[in-house]
Amino acid sequence: MRIILLGAPGAGKGTQAQFIMERYGIPQISTGDMLRAAVKAGTALGIKAKEVMDAGQLVSDELIIGLVKERILEDDCEKGFLLDGFPRTIPQADAMKEAGINIDAVLEFDVADEEIVKRMSGRRVHPGSGRVYHIVYNPPKVEGKDDVSGEDLVIRPDDEESIVRDRLAIYHEQTKPLVSYYGKEAELGNSKYFKLDGTQSVEAISNQLVELLD
Ligand code: AP5
Ligand code: ZN
Repeated sequence: MRIILLGAPGAGKGTQAQFIMERYGIPQISTGDMLRAAVKAGTALGIKAKEVMDAGQLVSDELIIGLVKERILEDDCEKGFLLDGFPRTIPQADAMKEAGINIDAVLEFDVADEEIVKRMSGRRVHPGSGRVYHIVYNPPKVEGKDDVSGEDLVIRPDDEESIVRDRLAIYHEQTKPLVSYYGKEAELGNSKYFKLDGTQSVEAISNQLVELLD
């Protein structure tokens, strides 16, 4: 099963990716998490990406495409994978197609911008794993601590309101065109396309995903 999760920053891609990964045993490929790991490790890629990410801008297509292509070749992706945060531009989607990487389903999470701005202020993440929480909507068992490791949760530097608004603008300009791109792919029978109401509860969305994916 090869799946793309499509949606604005904060639409819930990472949250549902965690659920799909556990239920279906396919790896989550989150380009955001991969880049954040590179920043933390201080690699050449991380040094390049940090400033761009903190400002809420997109890392270059060339860099991201190389990263994903390499990751997809790893053994754990043989049975499928879940792309979270990629593709995010038309050239990224074209690169997948040109490489002959077929996609079974695209799942779009639809959430209005104002709701997203509200959500992001409450997000907390576990930097080691990418696990995501929300202080109100999806709180950890112990305040400020990751459920699995017990380690501290942090606020992402790009979750400041003004940066969230910039990220949303970039989403509408560069990523939203993928909705019609994959809509056309679905019409051609190349993949399935499902649009979900991302404002439902985390659990309600997970249940809907099970119905679609089973
Ligand atoms: P990335 O990490 O991919 O960020 P994003 O796409 O902006 O998405 P987010 O991770 O912010 O949101 P999400 O949809 O995963 O929501 P989440 O589940 O966390 O990318 C970061 C940066 O890396 C980019 O800005 C760019 O610089 C670079 N980058 C990455 N990929 C790239 C690419 N392909 N090309 C170029 N550059 C790239 O949920 C958000 C919050 O809401 C959480 O607190 C959560 O608990 C809560 N929540 C989730 N679902 C619900 C619900 N149903 N109801 C209430 N609250 C909910
Ligand atoms: Zn995410």
